[in-house]
Amino acid sequence: MATREQSIAVAVSGLKVAQRRALVPPFPGPQLPAREATILIVDAEEVSRRVLKAMLRNNPYRILETDRPTEALAILEKENIDLLIIDLVMPEMSGPELCRRVKSDERHHFTPILMLTNVGGSQNEIEGITAGADEFLTKPLHPEVVRTRVRALLRNKAAVDSLEEAETILFALAQAVEARDEYTMGHCQRLADYSVALGKALGLSDEELLALHRGGYLHDIGKVAIPDAILYKTGPLTSEEWQVMKSHTLKGEEICRPMKTLAPVLPIIRHHHERWDGTGYPDGLKGEKIPLLARILQTADVYDALTTARPYKPALSPEEAFKTMEEEARRGWRDAELLALFREISETLPSLTSVAKSLEAMHRHVSSK
Ligand SMILES: [Fe+2]
Repeated sequence: MATREQSIAVAVSGLKVAQRRALVPPFPGPQLPAREATILIVDAEEVSRRVLKAMLRNNPYRILETDRPTEALAILEKENIDLLIIDLVMPEMSGPELCRRVKSDERHHFTPILMLTNVGGSQNEIEGITAGADEFLTKPLHPEVVRTRVRALLRNKAAVDSLEEAETILFALAQAVEARDEYTMGHCQRLADYSVALGKALGLSDEELLALHRGGYLHDIGKVAIPDAILYKTGPLTSEEWQVMKSHTLKGEEICRPMKTLAPVLPIIRHHHERWDGTGYPDGLKGEKIPLLARILQTADVYDALTTARPYKPALSPEEAFKTMEEEARRGWRDAELLALFREISETLPSLTSVAKSLEAMHRHVSSK
């Protein structure tokens, strides 16, 4: 069985490959995705499907077809489809309706759709594009135009796939970092839950909530670059060791920076150890200069650290944790308003309440010994 270090090394090298693939622009040149792309044609007319297949036959595509939108949805459940080509007018469900059904499923959000129609006119095109179609072509189809559009849509899909692959590896790496320390197991998941709950209470946008969720997992990813002798030292760190430990914020930002989709998460990774009075790191930012998302994550992070047992300290009860954090807020370290809101919502959130209850129970059990 691979050691934890080996798993991390594999994740890091996979990440580098995935990042390279995501960063190398899919253009220029007529490259096709590395694996054979699968295209699903949904058209009630057999002749139309045959014409399309003929136009694409000299390309290395795997082509599936159906005359019914409901069957198309069933195929999407089983097959990994790279491109959907659908007709605007079909019995049982229109092209735009099928388009909406496909795009509203987050698994297929980035599956490109090319919509075809017999009827010209901008109204149809607007309807198709509004429903989520990525391209629109009017029959009679020009073979070279069809091939060019199909190639372009498949190239974009391949780029999105590479990005997703890089993100998946990054998250796996973050979890590998967490799994190396038995005392922090589940920390990332709880942090993501708490931070999103606090973000929702503040009325943040979906994009900001997504950044908080990702930040819950990725905020400490830079610890992968910190030597074990420092990361797991049980005694106090020397000032040199402490400098190395603090660099996990910058290393984490460095690891995630190449991923454009992670841009909103970078301020969380860099600034989650700043303090309200400017005595934190790495930049000594003060008050509202500290990005709000970083302050939210920090509130959740400190709460979770206090309510979890570590080698050097027992777990505090939720009430004791809030009292400790309120004392720290009085000392100038924390955002007192955020902390007050977090305490407020902690009593109404099922996930937080259940975690808090189990922590309380664990605390009572430990205290009674
Ligand atoms: Fe950290």
